[in-house]
Amino acid sequence: MLADIESDALAAAVKSLENLGPDIRGVTCDVADVASVERAAKKSYEAFGKVRVVCNNAGVGGLGGIDNTSLENWRWVLDVNLMGVLHGICTFLPHSRAHGEGGHIVDTASMAGMLTGSWFTPYGASKFAVVGMSEALATQLKPLSIGVSVLCPGYVRTRIMESERNRPQRYGPAQTLDPTSRVGALARQVAERVQSGMDPSDVASQVLDAIREDKLYVFTHSGPDWRAELKKRFDEILAAMDKAAAR
Ligand SMILES: NC(=O)c1ccc[n+]([C@@H]2O[C@H](COP(=O)([O-])OP(=O)(O)OC[C@H]3O[C@@H](n4cnc5c(N)ncnc54)[C@H](O)[C@@H]3O)[C@@H](O)[C@H]2O)c1
Repeated sequence: MLADIESDALAAAVKSLENLGPDIRGVTCDVADVASVERAAKKSYEAFGKVRVVCNNAGVGGLGGIDNTSLENWRWVLDVNLMGVLHGICTFLPHSRAHGEGGHIVDTASMAGMLTGSWFTPYGASKFAVVGMSEALATQLKPLSIGVSVLCPGYVRTRIMESERNRPQRYGPAQTLDPTSRVGALARQVAERVQSGMDPSDVASQVLDAIREDKLYVFTHSGPDWRAELKKRFDEILAAMDKAAAR
């Protein structure tokens, strides 16, 4: 069962998968709206009976820095990227607990959920929250044989930089960035990296492996820069802990 807010793209995705088997279905769904996720879940149970693997993948981009983006923009990004994942978890978990056959949840975060870079954005806030929530969920669900993976991709060749196409009116007008500003230049740089990013099907096969092997963290990229930044962050955290220990 594929679920997406964009019905034309959803229909095209379902069609593109039809050669894999007869049982590919689609349901229109806004993950920011829990009632919509519940309707999608009901359609899934009606179509397939038990659900064992849930991927909370819908997401929108959100650049702009902390205080130079609107609060409506913050709400939109958090509603989709964080609440959307939470809605998926809270909707499907009672069903998984009831059938008792275990399963797996995949939450899509990002490398932006591990590293803040020089601009902390609504996007980064949502993804840090998804990482934390997924880590806690993994521990909580272990006794139920429900695995959890948190997907933290680097740049992947998708339409993430055109996310405004799916912004509902209730979140106000599209965010515009001054192309001559620092954050505008950063957005251009990110767009170029996404354009030349990893093929989404490579990410998909890594996710499949993580489900099969029950791995918590799924990193698609291991670039030396990211490794060095992660190490710097962890080293600073541990050094601060050492300072506390020495006091
Ligand atoms: N592309 C990258 O470089 C990259 C890197 C790290 C993480 N991610 C994450 O990967 C996930 C997938 O994004 P993508 O890169 O494929 O971008 P994309 O824009 O191509 O796909 C996002 C999908 O989410 C859907 N969507 C948006 N809002 C929705 C809503 N409210 N309810 C239901 N569906 C909604 C869109 O219609 C679209 O099909 C996101 O969570 C994104 O943050 C992407």
